[in-house]
Amino acid sequence: MTTPGKRLEGKVVMISGAASDIGVAIATRCIADGAFVLCTDIDLDAASSTARQLGSAALAVQCDVTSLESARAAVERARSQFGRLDGYVHNAAAPWHDGSVEDLDPAHWHQEVDVSLTGAFLMSRFVVPLMRETGGGSIVLVASQLGHVAAARSVAYCAAKAGLIHLARLMAVDHASDGIRVNSLSPGAVRTGRLLQSWSSLDEADAMLGPAHILGRIGQPEEIGASAAFLLSEDASFITATDLLVDGGYTAR
Ligand SMILES: NC(=O)c1ccc[n+]([C@@H]2O[C@H](COP(=O)([O-])OP(=O)(O)OC[C@H]3O[C@@H](n4cnc5c(N)ncnc54)[C@H](O)[C@@H]3O)[C@@H](O)[C@H]2O)c1
Repeated sequence: MTTPGKRLEGKVVMISGAASDIGVAIATRCIADGAFVLCTDIDLDAASSTARQLGSAALAVQCDVTSLESARAAVERARSQFGRLDGYVHNAAAPWHDGSVEDLDPAHWHQEVDVSLTGAFLMSRFVVPLMRETGGGSIVLVASQLGHVAAARSVAYCAAKAGLIHLARLMAVDHASDGIRVNSLSPGAVRTGRLLQSWSSLDEADAMLGPAHILGRIGQPEEIGASAAFLLSEDASFITATDLLVDGGYTAR
């Protein structure tokens, strides 16, 4: 990875699910690249603690992406405090629940789809007009390599992430004339607490999942942070309606 530069200097970026792991890494890199970041999460205490660690360029905002009113209030905070929003990263995700269509608890299906897919829809409903008012911006929907390829007993997660990848294309078409670029970003497995739902340690997760990635290892949160900051920046000015796979080659074979 290159040293952070100033490619997001003066930009205001909002990140959902910013209280843990990949969200923190995205916020950290955006700030290192010059942005002011609104760290939003359903868990305000965790978001506040993240924002404290990140310093004066971070602001914690409570936001449940599944609630229209909460989405409206979070984006209003950006408007009232900064008068603009240059970037939005939809990174929030529900806890992983394994299951096939036969045995997955329908409540878990709804939770997954609500946070990932419906959440992106609800947040974008308010993000788009604010970006349009100030000449445009960049939206990044964090999907997954599992939005491209199937995994056993992962119907809710895979279907929601596949939906996000296509939602990014649809939004890109609708809002190009507003100066808004929309892309999805699909990580492979990344060293985060999320993997501890299935593995007893991150080293075990790396040993088991790493070989499925061409690079022979799982990713680091910082590698996702750097890729998200790239998509948010003018370095990606001719990139829209695409999915950036940051998966160590997982989907290539
Ligand atoms: N970790 C991986 O291996 C991996 C791989 C591919 C994709 N991803 C994706 O990257 C993103 C971040 O992953 P992570 O590992 O950091 O996940 P994580 O579970 O650590 O973080 C998810 C965050 O979303 C927040 N959240 C949950 N419900 C919410 C809601 N209704 N409103 C607002 N916030 C809510 C949680 O509080 C948490 O802070 C997710 O979208 C995930 O699907 C992760």
